[in-house]
Amino acid sequence: MVSLLELTLQLSRAADMVSPELNHHQRLVAYITNNLGETLNFEEKKLNEVCVAAVLHDIGGLSMQERINVLKFEAINPHQHARIGWLLLKDYREFSEIARIIKFHHVDWNNGEGLRFCEEAVMPESHLIHLADRIATLISRDDKMIDQKDRVFEKILSASGRKFNPVYVKAFEQLKEKEFFWYDLESISNGRRYYKKIKFKDQRLNIDELIGITKLFARVIDFRSNFTAVHSEGVSAVAKRLAQHLKCDELTCKKIQAAGYVHDIGKLTVPTEILEKPAGLTQAEFAVMKEHTYHTYVLLFQIAGFEEINEYASMHHERLDGTGYPFKKKGTELSQGARIMAVADIFTAVSENRPYRKGMEKEKVIEVLKQMVKDNKIDANIVIILIANYHDINKARIKAQKKARTRYNDFAKLLTS
Ligand SMILES: [Fe+2]
Ligand SMILES: [Fe+2]
Ligand SMILES: [Fe+2]
Repeated sequence: MVSLLELTLQLSRAADMVSPELNHHQRLVAYITNNLGETLNFEEKKLNEVCVAAVLHDIGGLSMQERINVLKFEAINPHQHARIGWLLLKDYREFSEIARIIKFHHVDWNNGEGLRFCEEAVMPESHLIHLADRIATLISRDDKMIDQKDRVFEKILSASGRKFNPVYVKAFEQLKEKEFFWYDLESISNGRRYYKKIKFKDQRLNIDELIGITKLFARVIDFRSNFTAVHSEGVSAVAKRLAQHLKCDELTCKKIQAAGYVHDIGKLTVPTEILEKPAGLTQAEFAVMKEHTYHTYVLLFQIAGFEEINEYASMHHERLDGTGYPFKKKGTELSQGARIMAVADIFTAVSENRPYRKGMEKEKVIEVLKQMVKDNKIDANIVIILIANYHDINKARIKAQKKARTRYNDFAKLLTS
């Protein structure tokens, strides 16, 4: 059983790591939202929902530049990333309300008219995040936060009614006098772990529910770029089929499937500007790219019950001869699941079509894999099984990626509509 909350928090953290300028932005906003909601006596369920929405509110900011742009108090074109966030999350049952809150988190209060936007109802919770978000953007890291309380409040007050619900601004007026609030914000922004924790309601997920949420994660990870739009779905499908052909037990197969979905979660920390430059990366850019498996490991490490999934997911760039990264593990130090993931990742990467090139044909793929076996990079037995079941495994990849591609195309269409 794994905690939905821990998973959500790690997804949020990964998204905030794309630039130090973001300074734990989503966590800060969630913290401010929580305290405003408590001051306003929000009932527990509502408070919990709005806090989870806050922790993921900018998940739709696909590029680093976009995320940084909306950190300006008068954000330019802020609704796009809010809409993307909604699109990414809305189909996961547990997140449907949360997605609706996120969709309108930049709508101005407009003296009450902001309860509707583009002919749709806007939830009051969206306005609470809007205020918390703007408070967070006004706070600078350069000075002691508590010394900024009056400046921040004056600025918020000057937009009360126009941008923000005056009732919520009143709540902030009360909150800003409490020293702990500023001390906590300082602590969060310094990446420290001690602060008055948000009382999130949590939920335990069984393995099938876990597969549902990791599939959603795959979308958040992959949809950042047209280049990778269906990669994790492919890796997951191939890894699962391989595990089945290798006669792994059912639970292990499912764990491997989940690991496939999240194996590149560390890529959320890589700016899209680098992700979209497949060829000709500078040395510095490649160094950033290479770090992604390390981040996958550290992010998943925080989740209790994820030990095996993490072991499978994070070692996909390790090689049997010890020349992989980032742990330089070799031979028997690599579990069967990790070896499967490495083969699935390579197989999918060379077989899948990308916007800038076509995938390799069967003969070429087999040649590449065999050469890697010869060089003692990947597991010979797994490659034998793959070749013996090539058609079946490749079919599973194509099917999963086709489905994901349709989804991605719908997603891209909705964005331009
Ligand atoms: Fe935003
Ligand atoms: Fe934000
Ligand atoms: Fe990777």
